[in-house]
Amino acid sequence: MTAWWKNAVVYQVYPKSFQDSNGDGIGDIKGITSRLDYLAKLGIDAIWLSPVYKSPGIDNGYDISDYEEIDPQYGTMEDMDELIQEAKKRNIRIVMDLVVNHTSDKHKWFIESRKSKDNPYRDYYIWRDPVEGHEPNELTSAFSGSAWKFDKKTGQYYLHFFADQQPDLNWKNPELRQKIYDMMNFWINKGIGGFRMDVIELIGKDPDKMIRENGPMLHPYLKEMNEHTFNGKDLMTVGETWNATPAIAEEYSDPARKELSMVFQFENQSLDQQAGKEKWYLRKLDLGELKKVLVKWQTQIDFNHAWNSLFWENHDIPRVISRWGNDKEYRVQSAKMFAIVLHMMHGTPYIYNGEEIGMTNCPVKNINEVEDIESINMYHERLQKGYSKNELLRSINTKGRDNARTPMQWSNKENSGFTEGTPWLHVNPNYQNINVQAALGDPDSIFYTYQKLIKLRHENPIVVDGDFKLIKNTGDNILAYYRILGNEKWLVVANLSENKEQLSLEDELQKVLISNYPPKSNLKNMTLEPYEAFSAIVK
Ligand code: GLC
Ligand code: CA
Repeated sequence: MTAWWKNAVVYQVYPKSFQDSNGDGIGDIKGITSRLDYLAKLGIDAIWLSPVYKSPGIDNGYDISDYEEIDPQYGTMEDMDELIQEAKKRNIRIVMDLVVNHTSDKHKWFIESRKSKDNPYRDYYIWRDPVEGHEPNELTSAFSGSAWKFDKKTGQYYLHFFADQQPDLNWKNPELRQKIYDMMNFWINKGIGGFRMDVIELIGKDPDKMIRENGPMLHPYLKEMNEHTFNGKDLMTVGETWNATPAIAEEYSDPARKELSMVFQFENQSLDQQAGKEKWYLRKLDLGELKKVLVKWQTQIDFNHAWNSLFWENHDIPRVISRWGNDKEYRVQSAKMFAIVLHMMHGTPYIYNGEEIGMTNCPVKNINEVEDIESINMYHERLQKGYSKNELLRSINTKGRDNARTPMQWSNKENSGFTEGTPWLHVNPNYQNINVQAALGDPDSIFYTYQKLIKLRHENPIVVDGDFKLIKNTGDNILAYYRILGNEKWLVVANLSENKEQLSLEDELQKVLISNYPPKSNLKNMTLEPYEAFSAIVK
């Protein structure tokens, strides 16, 4: 039997920005429940819900102070139970975000841990003595500065790979691990669909040896977690793994190893930054390189013994059409092109809220408009080092996380129908034209391309199981491939660029399944329009 998540399309909801139900300007669980019919219409099978647990909100919920409570700004546990049940009625599963590399510094474990060196919770976190009056070593935080924070009370440093207020848990402690498994079972018993595992590649860390990701204990811990929690249950698990290679992705997702269903890999994310540097150092994307990475992850994974996820966007990365497409004159065409290319590939596709209507990045003019801790910390750190305001804002406007976090654009009503109050983060002014209501009213909208792609996947095993075969020698700007299952052969052609391109194929065209321009009638001597893409049955 094929696991349900191999046929599934997952939709990520960023709760703070999805739908406000009570006018406080902050999206909430009741708001999500009120939009389930919309998601059912799109056709998705599961929602990955970014964190709604109790949290001080330093990193919008990725700093959790109680794993078994809902943050009051998002609602109550009753609201959460209702969301799970209402989603189930529509055959939608709720996949929870599992953030267990770190907690909030307001979690009761950390409050205890920092009290004294002999506190029973001391060892739940990673504490080290100063070395010659300094940090224990050079490890840095993803949110700027050292990964070590001095705590006066006991005269030691604790480790935090993210904000100071996100102390890293010590996975070497078996009691801590058991508490996490218990918490996971609490959620599993509520009837959720699985877990998306935040920065899971970090849990095997060995900070004394400067090992962050892919540490020696990572896979043993995942096996143990599997055995104590989701083993034998019909759940989906997806790990966030920035440093996975295809071989590593196979280790995570080979069913025989009993770890995870699949991982998110991010190899294409570094293509538009300068080699060896951080994401803020911009570089123009080379389409040939993008194509290479896409093909690599289709061909270097053995899908008979492993699985993979497919995505362009999430809450940490910019909107794909603004980044690699054209969010102005070819907004609709490039959005559909990205959708067709990705949803016809082998793996489980994810859609990030707003992607299905072609939402775009939202540039700011001043750092005061920014809410994201990563961008804010980077800005202040580099300003001090002498970078100019303009270049820092340019980096933030290109790569900053707020770009994809602006409120969901539901209609052309004030604040895009997201809230009746003041939104926590500015609404993108283009909501007047780009919104769900407009998309639903236009049979030619990006929304219906996504809807159709989901339907094609659900109804055709070739999309789920077909082999991927690249068509070679098409140049950097054209990505063309087949999916092949038994005697069936589907063709996918995409012009990744905004130039007109030429392509001639020998196959006989049988039926165009989906396209973003008027369908071709012949595969010979084709002229591909800017961002043109289509899929067709061929012989
Ligand atoms: C992951 C999340 C990101 C968060 C970080 C720390 O990368 O996706 O939003 O800031 O982990 O939890
Ligand atoms: Ca609210």
